Formats: sequence, structure tokens, C-alpha cells
Amino acid sequence: MFDLKSIVRPNIYALKPYRCARDDYSSGILLDANENSHGSSLPQNSSFVNGNLERYPDPYQLEIKEKLCKLRNIQSTNRFFLGVGSDECIDMAIRVFVQPGKEKILITPPTYGMYSVSANINDAGIAKVPLIVEGGKFQLDVPSILKEIQQDPTIKLVFLCSPGNPTGTLLAQTDIVQILESGFKGIVFVDEAYIDFCADASCSSLVEKYPNLIVSQTLSKAFGLAGIRLGYTISSPEIAQIFNNTKAPYNISTLTSNIANQALGDGLPVMASYVASIKEQRKLLMIQMSKLPFIGGFLGTHDANFVLAQFVNKQGIPDNGVAMDIYKHLAEISGVVVRFRGNELGCLGCLRITVGTPEENATLISYLQSKDIQEIANKY
Ligand SMILES: Cc1ncc(COP(=O)(O)O)c(C=O)c1O
Repeated sequence: MFDLKSIVRPNIYALKPYRCARDDYSSGILLDANENSHGSSLPQNSSFVNGNLERYPDPYQLEIKEKLCKLRNIQSTNRFFLGVGSDECIDMAIRVFVQPGKEKILITPPTYGMYSVSANINDAGIAKVPLIVEGGKFQLDVPSILKEIQQDPTIKLVFLCSPGNPTGTLLAQTDIVQILESGFKGIVFVDEAYIDFCADASCSSLVEKYPNLIVSQTLSKAFGLAGIRLGYTISSPEIAQIFNNTKAPYNISTLTSNIANQALGDGLPVMASYVASIKEQRKLLMIQMSKLPFIGGFLGTHDANFVLAQFVNKQGIPDNGVAMDIYKHLAEISGVVVRFRGNELGCLGCLRITVGTPEENATLISYLQSKDIQEIANKY
């Protein structure tokens, strides 16, 4: 049986949430929170001048949570925690569940780098069970994960990234369920930052069945709002309550919530049209890149807004030299910045390329077809 109390750090479990100034009375002449009643110090012609920015933001953000309930088909707003990007959600989970200096998270390389960064900041250990990388499969090695979590009771939190970064690959939901069904007493955290690029594949509805599942999502990718920093978790109400007790009282700014409310309302068709266009562009980009002699192929199943392209030498063998030289040439000479991932497990010779606008993709393709880049590839 999963027992939440036994896996939350005792000091966190005992937390009483910060009671903010407006919990009891929130209208009238507000002289309770040491705000600046004269107003914000913005120039009169600023479009934000009437934005109520001299007041602290709403700590509960119910309007956003209601919209997310509708969008994600979740029954109650009390299953949500809103964070400053999903990066805050990742940090929050480690802070809440993993005892510094004593306990561990488990990650499945190649994976998103922030799990390890946050673990290191929080003095949490890191256990690693690589994905099955052969042939660019990038799926979970479930037997090895189960063995590891059974052997090592200090593993409190398992991070699964679906679709993965840098793999771009959706994990099989049956594998995730197998871990949830295994009797594991810790938390399974599924990072779904890129889930809007694969309709209906989310694990979010499973939170109703599994009390130890946390799903995180973000407005940074498909919604195109990386600049506002809004991510969130969907979980049991009990976990959401603990996260909300632990967060800084006003972590979501008024500007962020205003913009998020628009994006989650009238912005939804815009998001859907961007997703459709990005998928179409992804296909075109892959078709055109495949024709280049130094592209061996694409690893994974390309379920996100990027592709993982494998660069090969004249013998057709994946080669970090080719990938690195082309990466540098693109950045330094052509002015196109992609990400070298050739040193990640199972990603030899790989560049991770975000799908751009049609014009940006056409420019990238024209550079890749140039004589300069052909010559670089021919050196290997
Ligand atoms: C897998 C994954 N999770 C989380 C994040 C962070 O997202 P956010 O902007 O919501 O903090 C990223 C960003 O690249 C990501 O790739």
C-alpha cells in the first residue's frame, strides 16, 4: 500500500501553509500587506499601468486551474500545483520527497538535465537506469528499473520523461503502468513537457487511479509561452496540497496569470494551429534532411517539436566529429544554433534540432546543402 505520509520528508509534512494577507478579507481599502497604494512605478503610457501590479498576485490561481481541469479532463482543481515552469515542479518534488544526503531519485538517461541539477542542489543521490537505446528505441528498461527500486529503498522518486528530451520519444504507457503497479512505495513523476505534440497520449487521467503518480506539464512548449514561466503538476489532492503548502506564497506573477488565462481561453485554437504546423514542418524537415549524404537518419519517434538527427561519416558510421564540426559551423558562420547531443547515451553523432518556422527551416536546409558543409562532412 502506498503511504504518502511515510515518504514525505517529515519537516515538509508538518508544514502549515503560509497564510497570506488576503485569506480572510480581500476587498475594500487594502492596507494589510504593505503594498504601494499609490500604484506601480510604470510610466503612464505603459500598457501594464492598469494591471493591478501594485498588489500581490492571487496565491491560489483558481481561474487557471479551472481552465486546466477543462483542458485536461481533470475532475477537481485541487489536483493542481502551479509552478514557475515545470522546472519548479521538478525541484518541488525533490524537495518534498527526498531527504538531503540520504535518499535518491532515479533517472533514465538520456534524459532532461534538470533532474540531476535539481537533485544536486538538494543534495539528493542519483540512481541511473538507462533507456533501451539500441536502434534509437529510447524506451524504458522496466525489469532493470523494478530491480533497482526494489533493491534500493532510498530511491523515493522516479523521473520519466515522455516524450523524452533529447529522445523526442513517447514512452509506452503500459511500461509506466507496470512501474505504478509494481508495489513501488515512492513517487513516479512523468514529465510531459512536450505532450501537446502527441494528442491523447497523456498519463494525466491515471492520477485518479494511482496516488503515487505526478504528471507535470508546461505552457513553455506547444503554447509558446516559455517567457511567462508557467508549469504545473497534476496529482492526488494530498500531494497537490503538500506542494502548495511548500511553495513560495506568490510564485505565479499577475502578468503570468493574465497571459496564461488568455492562452488557456481564446488562445487554445492558436495553440492547436501551431501544433499542426510544427508537425507538418517536422515532417518536411526530416524529408529534406534525409536526402543529405551525412545524415544517417533520425533516432526515436519524433513525438515533440524537435528531431534528433544522426550525422555520419563517409563510411555511414555515426560520428561526433561530423556532428560537432557542422554544429559549430552552423552557429558561428551560418547563425543557426542547434544543440549538440552526441555525448548523450545512445545519441552518437546527434544534433537535436528544434522545428522552426517554414522560413527558418528552409534557411537551415539551404545551409546544410551548402558546399562549405559538404566539405566539412567530407573530412570524416
Ligand atoms: C523534458 C523537459 N521538462 C521540463 C522542461 C522545462 O520546462 P519549463 O519551461 O516548463 O520549466 C523542459 C525544457 O526544455 C524539458 O525539455
